[in-house]
Amino acid sequence: MTAPLPERAATPLSVLMCRPTYFTVSYAINAWMDPSTPTDTARAIRQWEQLVATYRSLGFDVSLIEPLPGLPDMVFAANGGLVVDGLAYTASFAHPQRQPEGPAYAEWFAGAGLDVAHASAVNEGEGDFLVVGDAILSGTGFRSTEDSHAELASLVDREVVPLTLVRDDYYHLDTALAVLDATPGQEEIAYLPSAFDQDSLEVLRGRYPHAIEASEEDAAVFALNAVSDGLHVVTAADATLFHAQLAARGFVPVGVDLSELLLAGGGVKCCTLEVRRPREAAERAA
Ligand code: ARG
Repeated sequence: MTAPLPERAATPLSVLMCRPTYFTVSYAINAWMDPSTPTDTARAIRQWEQLVATYRSLGFDVSLIEPLPGLPDMVFAANGGLVVDGLAYTASFAHPQRQPEGPAYAEWFAGAGLDVAHASAVNEGEGDFLVVGDAILSGTGFRSTEDSHAELASLVDREVVPLTLVRDDYYHLDTALAVLDATPGQEEIAYLPSAFDQDSLEVLRGRYPHAIEASEEDAAVFALNAVSDGLHVVTAADATLFHAQLAARGFVPVGVDLSELLLAGGGVKCCTLEVRRPREAAERAA
């Protein structure tokens, strides 16, 4: 006898995205990027538009930030900061090629009426900070520093859980770990075990004993770079085993092809920054 599946419910998200108008691969700051491989910007835009259409069909509120010329990675909005409990903790990029994106996203946050906390520590926003229940899983190893974990912990009334990444092809936490249900008390995640060091694996296994362990094949098409509303999990179209794992848990996999953006080492979640309003406001609305 297997345990009955929990009842899944969708809560549409508010997200910020950036059209890949200037997308290309002109430098290499992760293992996926090879400037000698040609990119097709029109195709990237078409695929990204498909992602926007998917979100709108799920009832998401999609805001757009103006793309800036000369910033080909600005499409990866997840890296623009972390918005939680009405506070926007700004990004401070590890690589000079992306540093101008930090102030651009910070300006958007201020314009949206969020309290902006300007980071002094190097961090790449939701690329490395994932909110699950009352905790924030926080990646380090390649981009965001341990100092940023401490800085974030001093700003929010939440547990910050450090996790260390060890593989350069899974350089951001959101490439190796997906939040499937962020609701406090019913947290569910999926992750790629080989992307983490031993201590981090123990933390993950202790906190989430029933987590989905993704296959190497699915992780390699950025299956874990996913966005969930608690029911629908928007993920890579060709991550077939992952889709089956999700369905077996009562989630509805929604596949989107972002193969052009994968040339820059990005997928669904990378293109998506969640705009979480204050806890009290959300509770009042409930
Ligand atoms: N080319 C980008 C970089 O290396 C990809 C960012 C992907 N974003 C993410 N949230 N994992 O910075």
